[in-house]
Amino acid sequence: MSTLRCVLLLGLCPAVCGLLQTLYCAWSQRCDCDFKPNVRDLEWDLYKNVYGQHLAQDIVSEEVAWFLQNKSPDRPLVLSFHGSSGTGKSLVSSMLGNHLYGSAMSSPYVHQFVPTLHFPSPQHVDEYKEQLKSWVKGNLTECARSVFIFDEMEKMPPGLVDVLEPFLGPSHVVFLTNYRKAIYVFIGTTGEEVINRRMVENRQAGREREEIDLAELQDAVAHTLYTTNTSGFFQSSIVKQKLVTSFVPFLPLSRRHVEQCVRSQLSQRGSCGRTDVVEAVGGDMTYAPAPGQYFSTTGCKAVAAKINLFL
Ligand SMILES: Nc1ncnc2c1ncn2[C@@H]1O[C@H](COP(=O)(O)OP(=O)(O)O)[C@@H](O)[C@H]1O
Ligand SMILES: [Mg+2]
Repeated sequence: MSTLRCVLLLGLCPAVCGLLQTLYCAWSQRCDCDFKPNVRDLEWDLYKNVYGQHLAQDIVSEEVAWFLQNKSPDRPLVLSFHGSSGTGKSLVSSMLGNHLYGSAMSSPYVHQFVPTLHFPSPQHVDEYKEQLKSWVKGNLTECARSVFIFDEMEKMPPGLVDVLEPFLGPSHVVFLTNYRKAIYVFIGTTGEEVINRRMVENRQAGREREEIDLAELQDAVAHTLYTTNTSGFFQSSIVKQKLVTSFVPFLPLSRRHVEQCVRSQLSQRGSCGRTDVVEAVGGDMTYAPAPGQYFSTTGCKAVAAKINLFL
């Protein structure tokens, strides 16, 4: 609906205008809210500012580009991020929001759920199910191009996200609501053991990081999710029916990557030249497993705090 007409109508009757706009958007599917995707910027940001995550970089940029190319996708984009703490999962999810919406992560169409905050009591799971379902529905009616980010999936009450199942597949376009244009991002640490173990084996076999077998890793992660009762996807129909477009493994970071994180954060703070701090922070992290010490146990998570210590 043209802004002018809307403004005119708005003066007369805001309720009518709101309803007309909703109807118009639903029928024409031309109103894309605050949706201003810039896939090139997203790719640039991913490849420049995320270290050691070639799989996440490739999968996220390819899936998003592919999904947005299609003006009428037949199902939503569903990504599930897995890996240890501090490896960049939240960082990548915020890059998505930042490059898809005019007002970046503060866009009203980027919805973030944190179970400890939004779904704190497991005994209220039935209530939460109703709330989550109607919340997602309501938001998609308002804006089909919405992003839903579910963080800390391992703390999600079991069965809760299964209410999303009807929205994640190739659903029909229901009156007033198109469920197929949404993007869902699930984030959790489940799968970290298998990802990290494969990476250690890969390293011990003398292979490059980039030689890790993605398909095998994704299958192992999916299997772990389905069989772990604290994964948020325990025996979930979402996994069983293969409604996740892609599982995205986040790899453990080595000292080289930690030091890249330090350099990047130092330069943001105007202290580029402090190679002594880079060395000190890199050396102060804990690396595992005991023989080898290949990977930082906290990824880049403690970097900011340690910079304060050594700067
Ligand atoms: N692979 C990475 N590349 C660049 N920075 C990273 C990476 N992983 C983590 N960081 C930085 O470390 C901090 C924690 O990362 P975060 O994305 O919150 O980790 P996660 O969500 O996987 O636990 C952030 O400041 C983030 O920018
Ligand atoms: Mg996180």
